[in-house]
Parts: sequence; structure tokens; C-alpha cells
Amino acid sequence: MNIIGFVASPRKKGNTAWAVNAILEGAKEQGAKIQVFYFNDLDIKPCQSCYGCKKGNQGCIINDDMQKLYGALKSADALVFGSPIYMGQMSAQAKIFTDRLYAQFSPRFSPQFKEENAAKKLVLAFTQGNPDAGLFQTYIDYTKKMFQLLEFDVKDVAVITGTRSEPAQEKKDLQTAMKNIGSSLV
Ligand SMILES: Cc1cc2nc3c(=O)[nH]c(=O)nc-3n(C[C@H](O)[C@H](O)[C@H](O)COP(=O)(O)O)c2cc1C
Repeated sequence: MNIIGFVASPRKKGNTAWAVNAILEGAKEQGAKIQVFYFNDLDIKPCQSCYGCKKGNQGCIINDDMQKLYGALKSADALVFGSPIYMGQMSAQAKIFTDRLYAQFSPRFSPQFKEENAAKKLVLAFTQGNPDAGLFQTYIDYTKKMFQLLEFDVKDVAVITGTRSEPAQEKKDLQTAMKNIGSSLV
């Protein structure tokens, strides 16, 4: 099983990176092949709304690092997508990536990609400074639904709270919880 992690925080040693890697580690212990991409290392432009992806079968025509991710997505059985909460939502980096999925994952427009993208498993991982786990629930539920509409099989949504006062990696039992999410993906 091939599992790919995406870290949509600029902080490679931050809470989101830690959570995504802990989930991947749990999957690796069960024999999965893992790979992780840090958006801060990549040059990914926002969708240009050119609809080039809808002309023929070529997919997105923007020639940037998202092309590497389309390639990785093709070979993935499952994805772990991590974002910090910024102003009550996913980070801008996460949103740019999500918009670029439109070229291949919008079932209404991209039947040619339907087969290779069919029912990929997805784990969402959010981290937030605020300790209130319910604070962004409406947004998190909405985001889960949005990925389900793109036909991802959303297996789990991890929300790590209170990172302002205590980094994720110092939270008791959290590593085990994250690893368990990863192992149950396999
Ligand atoms: C621009 C910005 C906006 C933020 N907005 C929120 C917010 O609305 N609610 C919240 O609880 N935390 C907010 N935070 C805190 C982050 O969500 C939190 O520190 C997160 O764990 C950072 O993840 P990282 O360590 O992976 O970068 C914000 C942080 C930044 C930099």
C-alpha cells in the first residue's frame, strides 16, 4: 500500500508536520510504503481558471510542482492531508492544492481520471492553537464533505487542539493516537 502525506504548513518541524509524519509512521509499521511532501518546498501556483484541464485528457496545464503531486496522487492508495487552522480555515497553501485537485478530481468534469482516482482513502489532520475542539467543527465537517464530494473515502479526521500552549509532540498519548490512525489505514 502506497500512502502519501501532504504538509500544508510552512513549518517543517511544526505541529502539522509532526501529526502527518506520526500517522505515516503508524502506516509504515504495518508495511505501507510512505512518502511526504512539504508544500513550502514546492512552487504551486493557484488555479488560473483557464479550464485547460477540461479541454481533452491532459489534466492541468500549469507547468509547476503540482505536476509532481498529480503523479504521486496517481500512484497513491491513501493520502494524509495536514493543515494548520489559519483564521478558522485550512491554510492558503492547503487551499491552493485543493483548488488544483479540480483538474482531476472533479467527477463532474473529469471522467477520464475517474478510474485512477477511484476511492482513494484520505485522512485529514488539522492543528489549531485554540484548545476548544468544537470551535471549528462546522468548517471541519464542511471540508470533510467537500473531499467526499470529490469521491475521497475519508477514513478519519484528526483535530489537534491547544498547540499554542503545548506543541503536539509533547501531548500525552497523542503519538499513539496518530500512529493508530495510520495503522488502521493499512
Ligand atoms: C496566520 C495564522 C492564523 C491562525 N489562525 C488560527 C485560528 O483561527 N484559530 C486557532 O485556533 N489557531 C490559529 N492559528 C494557530 C495555528 O493554527 C497553530 O499554531 C497550528 O498548530 C500551527 O501549525 P504548525 O505548527 O504546523 O505550523 C493561526 C496561526 C497563524 C500563523
